[in-house]
Amino acid sequence: MSDLVKIELLPLGRELSVARGTPLRDVLFAHGVEFPCGGRGRCKGCKVKVLAGDLPVTPEDCAKFTEAERRGGWRLSCCAQAESDLKLDLAQWEANILSDDSQFTFVPREGWGVAIDLGTTTIVAQLLDLKTGTVLGVRSALNAQAQHGADIMSRVEFAVAEHSQPVLQRLIRDQIGQLVQAVWDSAHGKREALSRIVLVGNTVMHHLFCGISLEPLSHYPFEPSQPGLQLFEAAALGWDFAPTVMVAFLPCMGSFVGSDILAGVVATRLHESDSLDALIDLGTNGEIVLGNANRLLCASTAAGPAFEGARISIGMRAATGAISEVRIENGGLRCHTIGDGSPRGICGSGLVDAVAAGLDLGWLKFTGRLLKGDTLPLADSVALNQWDIRELQLAKGAIAAGLRILLEEWGATKADLGKIYLAGAFGNYLNYTSAQRIGLLDFPMEKVVASGNTALAGAKMALFAPSEEGWLYQDLLRRSKHVSLNESARFQDVFVEEMSFPNVQV
Ligand code: FES
Repeated sequence: MSDLVKIELLPLGRELSVARGTPLRDVLFAHGVEFPCGGRGRCKGCKVKVLAGDLPVTPEDCAKFTEAERRGGWRLSCCAQAESDLKLDLAQWEANILSDDSQFTFVPREGWGVAIDLGTTTIVAQLLDLKTGTVLGVRSALNAQAQHGADIMSRVEFAVAEHSQPVLQRLIRDQIGQLVQAVWDSAHGKREALSRIVLVGNTVMHHLFCGISLEPLSHYPFEPSQPGLQLFEAAALGWDFAPTVMVAFLPCMGSFVGSDILAGVVATRLHESDSLDALIDLGTNGEIVLGNANRLLCASTAAGPAFEGARISIGMRAATGAISEVRIENGGLRCHTIGDGSPRGICGSGLVDAVAAGLDLGWLKFTGRLLKGDTLPLADSVALNQWDIRELQLAKGAIAAGLRILLEEWGATKADLGKIYLAGAFGNYLNYTSAQRIGLLDFPMEKVVASGNTALAGAKMALFAPSEEGWLYQDLLRRSKHVSLNESARFQDVFVEEMSFPNVQV
């Protein structure tokens, strides 16, 4: 028997080899998991879900989890050892799920509704009183499909190559049904009837939830087969709500630009703007919309997970021990670590800061090459290597190239842009000066608007649509055009150019 076991961590998408018998606490701590009670088995804060492999139930698990939870794979990681190969879901990553508290005008309706942002990694649901617009409850979770692949293409591959689309469909329909039930149960006082549920998500999530074949999305030209609005009765999904509860999955904008981005356009009112604005979702699959009240162009680009701190050798989520800010002080680097303890890794915002500072100090060339040894040392033993810098270059290059191609297609330049809306959690925490320095956001700062979870905000607005017709977004979609970056003769050249950092003398 080998002395090593393999551990796969989701949603990080990271695979490790560790010595058999290693305490999971040692393994997970190095990857950003916190142990709030010091690993004494008292708080449940370190819980993980076993997706594959065997992690024996301990007395502490029996004390903290119900039998159903233990059967579902839940364990306290602080009380376990890695004795065999394992695939684990890290529940603490749920803490990063971004909800929404934006205000908007609406025409009141009877009953309650639930808006859901169905992401590849995370899901968030809000329950609203449709008469007042009050948010009555929020529930979030990691997407249960993550056990079959961390990103959308690995889900497509699992669904198509392994003929397992029904498995993914059942998983997500069951999970969303439970989440709706949980957010409904969380409301106190007199309950009103649930009348409608609106979902938004990327094109793959749309097809998986709706039961539409993913096969066309697995090969060129990557066109979805039925990207439009999908309507269901709750009972038809196997959910325990009245048959009159209508469930709507909003339409996609095209190829890999889903209804989460459509909802973002609605939330930012980009489609009503007098100026030429852009909406950018800085995710693993970076989506960009450019437009105004006359027309809209949209595209998606594979940015990779560097902005989330994933696939970085010392990357971790924004938790205790993560370097979240880096600045220059006395000719060296000064790092702020979340929790003010010893640094254990770096999150996305710290990564952008560190590279920006490395460029200003002349420790990094504009091509991304490290100039002082093999690493960019940050604090204690935490350092970035050449591969980490490349991952960030790939991510920022993909976004910048996508935007440039859309601007060219429009016949405009960056200078013509009015507002740039940044969707998603990363946009909220990012230091814009650093983002500007590395060429990720090459705009005057006053134009950049951190817009939060615009997908959820747009889904909430859709709950107030006067009729089902309002969910078609016919006018908006008629004015929008999907630009396939794959088919752009210039994309590769522009992408390579945009991978470099701005070559400025400091
Ligand atoms: S760290 Fe508190 S139960 Fe594991």
